[in-house]
Amino acid sequence: MARRKKIYEGKAKTLYEGPEPGTIVQYFKDDATAFNAEKKDVIEGKGVLNNLLSEYFMLGLTNIGVPNHFLKRLNMREQLVRSCEIIPLEVIVRNYAAGSMSKRLGIEEGTQLPRPIVEYCYKDDKLGDPLVTEEHIAAFGWASQQDMDDILSLALRVNDFLSGVMYGVGIRLVDFKIEVGRVFEGDYQRLVVADEISPDSCRLWDIETGQKLDKDVFRRDLGSLTDAYTEVAKRLGVMPKTSTPASKPTLIN
Ligand code: TMP
Ligand code: ASP
Repeated sequence: MARRKKIYEGKAKTLYEGPEPGTIVQYFKDDATAFNAEKKDVIEGKGVLNNLLSEYFMLGLTNIGVPNHFLKRLNMREQLVRSCEIIPLEVIVRNYAAGSMSKRLGIEEGTQLPRPIVEYCYKDDKLGDPLVTEEHIAAFGWASQQDMDDILSLALRVNDFLSGVMYGVGIRLVDFKIEVGRVFEGDYQRLVVADEISPDSCRLWDIETGQKLDKDVFRRDLGSLTDAYTEVAKRLGVMPKTSTPASKPTLIN
């Protein structure tokens, strides 16, 4: 196969030019980073799990009519997506206080919020993705008022969908982050959910035990990240109940 053109290498994924114009191949790496890459490791199998889980969530969104960039999974580590222009915002939805919100506002982790709260961070690693308001977004032209209405609606629809899916398998969706991209169709543009939806970008707690099943396991050294993500994948039926992510060939006797 001809060598593909690399478009971008991020912390957890590499993007290559896709086979058709307007398409991109997303390759999920095993690299895990936290605290703006101050903490780093390679977690064998993470990329495979996130590829499968992101496919599952994006297909679910497609099924309920929430536009997103996903086209199809290509193999265990790669998926084909529509190329889009990423709006430089991390859109965070919180149902329960945790992480930076708990720290910032002094609210105990796990406190249920009176309603879902949407926050925006400016996507810039050098600045550590700072929290911004809609005033900043409008003044600096990162998104228009119409875009912001669409982004809010997408974020809340993703929240309802993901909360329900996770609740169905005994997991609380504490919070999550999405990225939104612009897709151009002639003169017309529409916004779609882009990037990935996986335990890297969500907080997921077991409803019964409170056990963390997301990237906080890595951020806070709480045990095996692969085990946590595998548990999520198994509960959702995304992988066979007995298998572990195949990253190396297994010898069959
Ligand atoms: P936070 O509490 O650290 O602000 O994180 C809120 C949510 O956003 C949480 O589900 C983790 C996710 N997130 C990312 O996906 N990428 C990031 O860079 C950060 C800081 C958080
Ligand atoms: N994604 C960020 C990093 O890679 C932060 C995080 O997820 O905690 O450093």
